[in-house]
Amino acid sequence: MSAAQPASRSRAFFNEPHVAGFTHRAFAKAMGFDDADLARPVIGICNTYSEFNNCHAHLRELAEAAKRGVWQAGGFPLEFPTISLGEIFLSPTSMLHRNLAAMDTEEMIRSNPMDGVVLLTGCDKTTPAALMGAFSADLPCIHLSGGPALNGHWRGQTLGACTDCRRMTAEYTAGTISAETYREIEENVFRSRGHCMVMGTASTMNSLTEALGIALPGNGATPATDAARLRLAEQTGRRIVALAQAGLRPSSLVTRHAFENAITLLAALGGSTNAVVHLPAMAGRLGIELPLELFDQISRRTPLIANLRPSGQYQMEDLHFAGGIPAVLKELLPLLHGDAMTVSGRTLAEMAQAAEVHDRDVIRPLGEPLQPEGGLAILRGNLAPDGAVIKQAAATPALLRHRGRAVVFKNFADVRARIDDPDLPVTPESVLVLQNSGPVGGPGMPEIGILPIPQKLLRAGVRDMVRISDARMSGTAYGTIVLHIAPESAVGGPLALVEDGDEIELDVANRRLDLHVSEDELARRRAAWQPPAPAYVRGYGRLYLQHVTQAPDGADFDFLRGRDPAQATPQPKF
Ligand code: FES
Repeated sequence: MSAAQPASRSRAFFNEPHVAGFTHRAFAKAMGFDDADLARPVIGICNTYSEFNNCHAHLRELAEAAKRGVWQAGGFPLEFPTISLGEIFLSPTSMLHRNLAAMDTEEMIRSNPMDGVVLLTGCDKTTPAALMGAFSADLPCIHLSGGPALNGHWRGQTLGACTDCRRMTAEYTAGTISAETYREIEENVFRSRGHCMVMGTASTMNSLTEALGIALPGNGATPATDAARLRLAEQTGRRIVALAQAGLRPSSLVTRHAFENAITLLAALGGSTNAVVHLPAMAGRLGIELPLELFDQISRRTPLIANLRPSGQYQMEDLHFAGGIPAVLKELLPLLHGDAMTVSGRTLAEMAQAAEVHDRDVIRPLGEPLQPEGGLAILRGNLAPDGAVIKQAAATPALLRHRGRAVVFKNFADVRARIDDPDLPVTPESVLVLQNSGPVGGPGMPEIGILPIPQKLLRAGVRDMVRISDARMSGTAYGTIVLHIAPESAVGGPLALVEDGDEIELDVANRRLDLHVSEDELARRRAAWQPPAPAYVRGYGRLYLQHVTQAPDGADFDFLRGRDPAQATPQPKF
C-alpha cells in the first residue's frame, strides 16, 4: 500500500470500519475487481463522450488508452460520464450549459472516492467547463483533449471548419458558387473525428492547457486520429497516478503566472475571443482575478507568431507537424514565466526547450512575427464602460479605425427578419449593432456577434464591415467584430440606448469604442428604457439568469467563484 499512501480518499473509502467499508468493497467487487485493485489509487476518467457531440465521437477509444496507462502505473481507473456540450447540436447555445457542465464535473469528482482524475474533453465549452469544475474540486487532475480533426480538402483547397462554413455560405449567398458546389464543400469540410481544425475556441482552449501546465506536451495540436494521440492518452494515464500519489492539486500548480503564460500563448496564437471569457471563469475558481487589462497588456507585448486560420493561413494539423504548441512556447520563452511547474513534472521552460520548430512559415520567429502585437485588443469607452473585445488579427485593417452610423437590431430574431431586406438603410460604412445578446439577454451569450453582411452588400462585393454586440462569436469566425460589450444591454448597459443613425466610433489603436450622442439625450433614453422579459421563469434557465455574472467575470455563476478548500478534503460516507 506504500505507493498509494498519499491517495487517501479512496483508501479511506475502502478501509472504513464496519458495514460502510464492507459495503464499499463488496459493491466494487461486484464489478469484478479484487482487493489488489482496491488497494491502488483510484483514478477517475471523466469522459464527455456523446453521440450528440460529433467532436467527441472517438473519446471512448481515448478513455481506454488512458485506462491502460493508469493500470500500467499501478492505479485503478474508473470511468464516469459528465454532460457533453456539442457546439453544433445544442440550442440555444452551448455557453448556456457551460456552468451546468462545470457543476456536474465538480460534484462528480468531489462526491466519488477518487484520488485523481483525467478530464477527457475537446469541443469548445467542454474544456473550460471540465477545468472550472476540476479546479473547484481541487483534486490532482490532467486534461486530455480529443484533438483537432484533420484538414478538410476540396479541389486542391485546404478547408477548415468552421471558417470555411461561413466563407462559403457568404459566397453562396452572394451567388458566386452554385448549390451543387456548396453541397460538395459540405461533404469535404470536416473529414475526420476530432474538434474544429482551425484555431477556433476548441483548438485555443486545448492549446492553452499546455501553457497552464495542466496537460502533457502535445495535448493542443496532435490530431485526433493520429496514433500519437492514443500514446498521449496512455502517457496521461500513467502520469495522473504519479500526481495522485504526490497529491499535487490544481490550487498549487495553476498559479497566476500559469494564467499569464496562457494569455501570452493566446495572443501569440491569434486565439479565440472566447478565451477572454473562459480564462477569467477558470481563474475565478482558484481565487485568481484576471482583469481585462491584463489581456490587453500581454497582447500588446506579445507578437502574433502562429500563422493559423482564421487569422492566418494554416490549420492545426500543420501546426502539429511544425512542432506543435511546445514549439510555439519555445519561441515565446522570453515572454513566459518559464519556471512555472507542469503536470509533466518538468517546468514549462524545460518542456519547451525539448521542442523544435520544423516549419518557419507556420511558427514564425519571435523577431519576425506576422503582426507585432497579439491577436486580441480590449476596448473601453462610453459604449463599453466595463470593456469589450476585438480580434484585431482577424479584422480588416482599414476598419480598425472607423466612424459610421448605427443600424440597430433588437435581438437575433430581428436580424433574421430584416438583414436581407432590400430596403434596409445600410451602407458599407454603417455599423451593425446587435442588442440583448449577452449572458442575460441572449440568454447564454450566444455566438451571434458575427452578424451576417446584408445580402445587397454581399452582392456589391462587401465582405466585412464593423459589427458590435454584447454577444460572443465562434473562434473560427473572422471580421471587424466587437464583442462582449459590458455591461450588456439586457441589464441596462449603454448598448441598450443605441438607436438607428447614431454615430459610433471604433479606434482599436487607442482601444476606444464610443457613441457620439449627447449626455442629455442618453439620459432621456435611459429613463425610458425597459428591460426585456426574462427568457426563463423556471428550471436551470432561471437559475442561470439569477446568478450569471457579466463577461469580464467569465459569465460564471456568482456562487461558484472563489475557493472553499474544505470541500476537497475526504468526507466519510456515513
Ligand atoms: Fe466542436 Fe467546433 S463543433 S469544436
